[in-house]
Amino acid sequence: MEELKDLFANNRRWAGQMKARDPQFFERLSAQQNPKYLWIGCADSRVPANEIIGLLPGEVFVHRNVANVVVHADLNCLSVVQYAVDVLKVEHIIVCGHYGCGGVAAALDNRRLGLIDNWLRHVQDIHKKHGARFECIDSHDKSVDRLCELNVIEQALNVCQTTVVQDAWARGHTLSVHGWIYRLQDGELRDLGASASSPADVENAIQRACERLPTN
Ligand code: CO
Repeated sequence: MEELKDLFANNRRWAGQMKARDPQFFERLSAQQNPKYLWIGCADSRVPANEIIGLLPGEVFVHRNVANVVVHADLNCLSVVQYAVDVLKVEHIIVCGHYGCGGVAAALDNRRLGLIDNWLRHVQDIHKKHGARFECIDSHDKSVDRLCELNVIEQALNVCQTTVVQDAWARGHTLSVHGWIYRLQDGELRDLGASASSPADVENAIQRACERLPTN
């Protein structure tokens, strides 16, 4: 347990720095959170939502799982989306994947890792659906990265298709869904152009984003 003392020391230092910068920070935050964004990202330790987009606690609502998958029957993810949209009234839902994702690579390689294989089956289904797009790709790393991109686009589509988002749009709630990807090598984000702000946008946005991807 000795080594965990470091984490508490880090925490005290961090809380002290935050209070030095803004004495009312925690008091204000404890009374209310008012995020404009919901981030659905990979659980990978190298892709921390707040740091990447330079936002403070209170500014982004976050859900992370292995390979940033949005499954229509996943009550955990759906509850996060519903709370974020209906209660917090976020204006943007960002599905953010990352290149070199271990979960996506395991899905592509059909690796047997245990229980998680069943979760990654959803990513394998995307590979199968877009099988033709992989025929001209000549390296394994490129195939992984292409599947990372397609996974983001398909998961953004899944978000758009949830009853929560469909109902919010039907009520006239201002809400956009976006598909982004992060590069571990340089820390930069890229918009895959899969944004949708109404039911009429969805099909075109997804198709355009897929067409924009390189074919090799
Ligand atoms: Co990942």
